[in-house]
Amino acid sequence: MNLLFISISGNTRAFVQRLQAYAAEQTVEADWTIKEIHDNSALTEETEPFVAFVPTYLEGGNGVDNGDQEILTETLREYIDFGDNAQHCLGVIGSGNKNFNYQYCLTAKQYATQFAVPFLADFELRGTNQDIERIYHILKEIEPHPTEAIK
Ligand SMILES: Cc1cc2nc3c(=O)[nH]c(=O)nc-3n(C[C@H](O)[C@H](O)[C@H](O)COP(=O)(O)O)c2cc1C
Repeated sequence: MNLLFISISGNTRAFVQRLQAYAAEQTVEADWTIKEIHDNSALTEETEPFVAFVPTYLEGGNGVDNGDQEILTETLREYIDFGDNAQHCLGVIGSGNKNFNYQYCLTAKQYATQFAVPFLADFELRGTNQDIERIYHILKEIEPHPTEAIK
């Protein structure tokens, strides 16, 4: 499984790294790769399926009936929008802070709508060990398996 993420203050990075380590502990075959998107990342065409981890940074709005502006994470949106990348996206996982009420994880929900992909899960801040286990199992369910060679 390929895990793509952006992280401004390090929470999502810490979560994705723990998730990768957890996956490696579960089975010897687990080979989950992680890729961080930075502001200066080159836009490249993804050739394998991936899941995107999307922290929430919004300015304005209340998450219900008025506008909000995505800040700091737009590079990830542009990356998924680039070429055929969205077609390789299996879904998004949102992270945020529940203090933001209706805007909790709203950016990931907006990505899910824009790219027509599932909103798979959410976690708060750096996530708990239970979040790691829960999200690992969600991703295992949707992990693509190499097609068996035709005999
Ligand atoms: C300026 C700012 C705006 C934020 N806006 C939201 C928000 O609208 N909704 C939300 O759920 N979390 C919001 N957060 C919380 C972050 O999404 C949360 O801290 C997240 O774990 C950051 O991930 P990162 O450390 O990987 O960048 C905001 C944080 C900051 C600093």
